Amino acid sequence: MSSPQPHAALIEAARAAREQAYAPYSRFAVGAAVQDELGRIHRGGNVENAAYPQGWCAEASAIAVMVAAGGRRILAAAVCGVADEPVTPCGGCRQKLREFAADDCPVLITDLHTVRATHRLGDLLPNSFGPQHLKTDTAP
Ligand code: THU
Repeated sequence: MSSPQPHAALIEAARAAREQAYAPYSRFAVGAAVQDELGRIHRGGNVENAAYPQGWCAEASAIAVMVAAGGRRILAAAVCGVADEPVTPCGGCRQKLREFAADDCPVLITDLHTVRATHRLGDLLPNSFGPQHLKTDTAP
């Protein structure tokens, strides 16, 4: 018998968020969910715009909801998209996640029914730039 998925609620939140995505232009709905340091789950979908570059990704929505709720650490993240290839976070979203997450943060990649992959954030964004780079005692 297979063991229960430890991130079941997070995965379901990403799938639910995808249902609320606003993607009338690409028709490529994405949902994301993040679990914060209090165990709370925050979720959001991509939000496109008629001025195309003004749209933003699902991960950005979920992170904004977390920050608005006072969350400051991401302990796990899930992204839900439907495509032949697993829908991994775009480069910009990897950096956005990294602001709040450690290298060992699991990033679950799911579609409607199956977790297609689980990556460490540090594998998705190796040798990353982060807040620690801005912590210096030698201010100019
Ligand atoms: N998208 C996301 O929401 N997250 C990603 O990590 C990849 C791409 C969205 C942006 C755009 O609304 C649509 O997917 C097609 O690129």
